[in-house]
Amino acid sequence: MKVIPTAAVLGAEIAGVDLSRHLDDITFAAIERAYDEYGVIFFRGQSITPAQQVAFTRRFGEIEFNIFGERWSVPGNPEIVVLSNITEGGRPTGVRRAGENWHSDMCYTARPPRGTVLYAIEVPELHGLPLGDTEFASAAAAWDALPDAMKRILEGRQATFDFRERKRALAPTQAEIDRNPPVRHPIVRTHPSTGRKCLYVMRDDCTAIEGMESDAAEALIAALADHLVKPAFVYRHQWRPGDVLMWDNCTVQHRAIQDYDMPQRRLMHRTTMGGAVPA
Ligand code: SIN
Repeated sequence: MKVIPTAAVLGAEIAGVDLSRHLDDITFAAIERAYDEYGVIFFRGQSITPAQQVAFTRRFGEIEFNIFGERWSVPGNPEIVVLSNITEGGRPTGVRRAGENWHSDMCYTARPPRGTVLYAIEVPELHGLPLGDTEFASAAAAWDALPDAMKRILEGRQATFDFRERKRALAPTQAEIDRNPPVRHPIVRTHPSTGRKCLYVMRDDCTAIEGMESDAAEALIAALADHLVKPAFVYRHQWRPGDVLMWDNCTVQHRAIQDYDMPQRRLMHRTTMGGAVPA
């Protein structure tokens, strides 16, 4: 196994691992270390079944179910959400336009997931060039780069994350809204394994900052959200069919680039692993 860091401040390719085979504990521990350290890791040229994806994800934590899975999962595998723009018989086969705004998955829950695994089965392309990239921003590098005075303002503060405020392609149902009342999380999280501090602010989900007037809080949330996704902190992944990529929800935020449409087909299988209360 070889860990090949990208040229960006986050992300590494893991070469020499076949995820369709059982991983011994030493190899798994090395993968987990790379995952914690780099925030995003990816394996090229994989061919895995839904059961193998679920088993691999489970080694990082219990499977987390989300609202998309209730509507679009792989038949017989409710743990796997289908992300796709493909329709069959006029009906969507998966979530279309998932995650097109910068976000950290399920930050509106009391225990956001540890991370997510995405397996690329079909990747759209134009003239042989891949489309539908995913961008990742390092919330750890963004924190490190803040001026000390700003760090002092933010440290120890909580923000409110409100599901109802989500401006997403898929509007939540009333039952989903009822299940997800507003929650508060620290604006600066500490990664449970690396101890790195990570900025935890999203423009679409954060609605307030404790101890701040709403106008000031809104302006600060917008400024921090813009800071977090500056090019210096971003890795852009160009997908190839057979990629298995996983991201850490504390260390990175991500967004899907929606620059393709039918007949350009995109099909991804997503699994998510449970996490802890942010600290
Ligand atoms: C997501 O899970 O946010 C979507 C990522 C992608 O489809 O690239």
